[in-house]
Amino acid sequence: MNRILPLDAGKVTLRTLEESDADQIAFHANNPNIAHFTANVPYPYKKEDAIVWISKTRSGMQLGKQYTFGIEYDKRIVGAIGLKVDDSNNEAEVGYWLGEEYWNKGLCTDALQAVVRFGLDSLKLHKINGSYLSHNLASSRVLNKCGFIVDCVLKDHIFKNDKYFDLVKCYLLSPEK
Ligand SMILES: CC(C)(COP(=O)(O)OP(=O)(O)OC[C@H]1O[C@@H](n2cnc3c(N)ncnc32)[C@H](O)[C@@H]1OP(=O)(O)O)[C@@H](O)C(=O)NCCC(=O)NCCS
Repeated sequence: MNRILPLDAGKVTLRTLEESDADQIAFHANNPNIAHFTANVPYPYKKEDAIVWISKTRSGMQLGKQYTFGIEYDKRIVGAIGLKVDDSNNEAEVGYWLGEEYWNKGLCTDALQAVVRFGLDSLKLHKINGSYLSHNLASSRVLNKCGFIVDCVLKDHIFKNDKYFDLVKCYLLSPEK
C-alpha cells in the first residue's frame, strides 16, 4: 500500500508514527492504569520501548500486516490505535490506548470509527475483531458505541501479574457481503 495519509477522525487526527514521537508515546504509555487494562502494554514503559514499538509499526505498515496510527489531539500525540491484519481470513484485530488525562472525552470512539471506516473502505476487510479484559468497561463501551457485537468470553485467558483474566471477544462485519 502507498503512504497512508492522515485520517480525519472527528475530535482527533490519526497519523502514522515516527521515531520522533517516542517521547510522547512513552510519556503517556508509562502508566500502570494503562497496563492494568491491556494485555500487552508493559509497565514501566520506557522511551526505548517506544522506539522499538514504533519501528515495528512502520515495518508492519510497509508489509501491509499492520496499520498503526498515532492519535493526535490538540497537535499532540496522545495515544495510538491500529489494525493487525490477517490476510488469509480478510480480517483484522483492533487495539488502542490513550493517555489517561484524555480519557472520557469521546476521543477513542472517534478514532475507532475512523479506523473501522479505513479497514472496511480502504483495506476492504470483511471483519474487524476487538477484545478487552472483562474489567475494562470503558473499552467495552467504546466497542459497543462503534457497532461491535460481543462474540464470546474466553475464561481465564490472559495471565498477568499472577492473576488470570477473562477476555471478551467482539466483532464487526462489513455491511458488504
Ligand atoms: C479504553 C480507552 C481507550 C477509551 O478511550 P476514551 O477516549 O476514554 O473512550 P471514549 O471517551 O470514546 O468512551 C468511553 C466510554 O466509556 C465509558 N466509561 C468509562 N469508564 C467507565 C466505567 N468505569 N464504567 C462504565 N463506563 C465507563 C464512558 O462514560 C464513555 O461512554 P459514554 O460516551 O457512553 O459516556 C481508554 O480508557 C484507555 O486508554 N484505557 C487504557 C488502555 C485500554 O484499556 N486500551 C484498550 C484495551 S482493550
